[in-house]
Amino acid sequence: MDKLVKVALIGCGHRSEVYASYSLQHPDLMKVVAVVDPKDVRLKKTGDMFSVSKENRFHSVEEFLKAKIVADAVINGTMDAIHYKTSIPLLEAGYNMLLEKPIALNKEELLGIYRTSRKHNCKVMICHVLRYAPFYVKIKELINDGAIGDIIQIVSEENVSFHHMATAFVRGKWRSIASCGSEIMMAKCCHDLDVISWLKSGVKPTYVSSLGGLYLYTEEKAPKGAGSKCLVDCDVEENCIYSSKKMYLEADVWSYYSREYLDKFEQKEGEDLLEWSLKENNPLGRCVYKCDNDVMDHQSVIIEYEDGTHATHVLLGGTMRPSRTVHIVGTKAEIYGDITSGEIYLRTANIGKKEAGEELCDEQLIKTDNSGGHGGGDYRLSADFCHFINGSSTSISTTEIGDSIYGHMIGFEADKAMKEKKVVKINL
Ligand SMILES: NC(=O)c1ccc[n+]([C@@H]2O[C@H](COP(=O)([O-])OP(=O)(O)OC[C@H]3O[C@@H](n4cnc5c(N)ncnc54)[C@H](O)[C@@H]3O)[C@@H](O)[C@H]2O)c1
Repeated sequence: MDKLVKVALIGCGHRSEVYASYSLQHPDLMKVVAVVDPKDVRLKKTGDMFSVSKENRFHSVEEFLKAKIVADAVINGTMDAIHYKTSIPLLEAGYNMLLEKPIALNKEELLGIYRTSRKHNCKVMICHVLRYAPFYVKIKELINDGAIGDIIQIVSEENVSFHHMATAFVRGKWRSIASCGSEIMMAKCCHDLDVISWLKSGVKPTYVSSLGGLYLYTEEKAPKGAGSKCLVDCDVEENCIYSSKKMYLEADVWSYYSREYLDKFEQKEGEDLLEWSLKENNPLGRCVYKCDNDVMDHQSVIIEYEDGTHATHVLLGGTMRPSRTVHIVGTKAEIYGDITSGEIYLRTANIGKKEAGEELCDEQLIKTDNSGGHGGGDYRLSADFCHFINGSSTSISTTEIGDSIYGHMIGFEADKAMKEKKVVKINL
């Protein structure tokens, strides 16, 4: 029987709340005992949500450490740029950790967190939620069972979608290195690079190269008549797929991102706060062609492994439909899958026939809603984290920090390769 895991939340934002919500469904397995956030409004909201006592609400990691709170682990859900700064003192104090991806901004910080966790015997698990999506679990099981033989090549695609791209990577928090510290390959696709590394089961990546660019979301591509804010001064808003009026007021897409800026505003009498903020200072009210964004909107990465095999990952920004696809060719057979439709096909050669044999691997997956919460991965991760901390049996998907190094190194070196237009050797 697993014992109760007491956790402290470092950063009371969207992701910490997602993982900690597990404690509300399973109060016997997880309990939030402390919350840390510099913002009072966040401390109150999250503290109240998880019934944390007033004396266990802290404005900084330093205050939290001074209080010597007894907890089995911390959930570090701060933004990318402060993962290193916040994680090191917590690990030095001996706290186990669930840490959001990307682990850090560069190789030095990545290895710094890894080595500190080893030195202080801390268990660290990374929020590679995609590994928990039933879609990828099925693919991993097929590979482990030898269904396709040895992997020769993996080709994966992340289709971000125009609405997600606009909300997070053009107008939102991950739009620039200055605002989040990470390039889009790490901010968005470190999941995919992790999945590729996981499917390769520990084979070392040796070389990486990449090309990409920011083509669409620039001032030069603005249509004639475009204003600076969709609800204020735009003549073409009505027919624009990026209209913040259509996205956030009518379709209510990505509501937790459009509403997270509302803390800063005061309700105006008789006016909808979100609508008002989109006209004023809510960054999501801006024209996608006139933002301060600098991350890529398309990028391709190619990887060589020490066993002579290869993988390619393609980030497609403004696609019409969000999805991830993966095609894995092995020495005996191949797998093709699309996470949004839930279809995974195992294709084998039909000796003596022109058409390949094709088997749909899991009927149930098609009926599952694979769209939200990383294909259902978010909630399974919290459960696995509790098992991980308790030392009880964990799942096939568990991402101990040591398993996450290759995927992250591919991402860091891919961005270097893209900027320098060369092939980079991965030195580890
Ligand atoms: N696993 C995934 O699929 C996934 C999805 C989205 C985001 N993320 C990652 O999760 C992380 C958090 O993203 P989010 O959208 O939840 O961010 P958020 O902005 O909603 O939350 C971050 C919180 O940290 C607080 N904070 C700032 N400085 C702090 C400090 N020094 N100490 C403690 N708290 C501090 C902020 O006030 C904020 O409340 C990011 O690294 C992001 O890239 C992961």
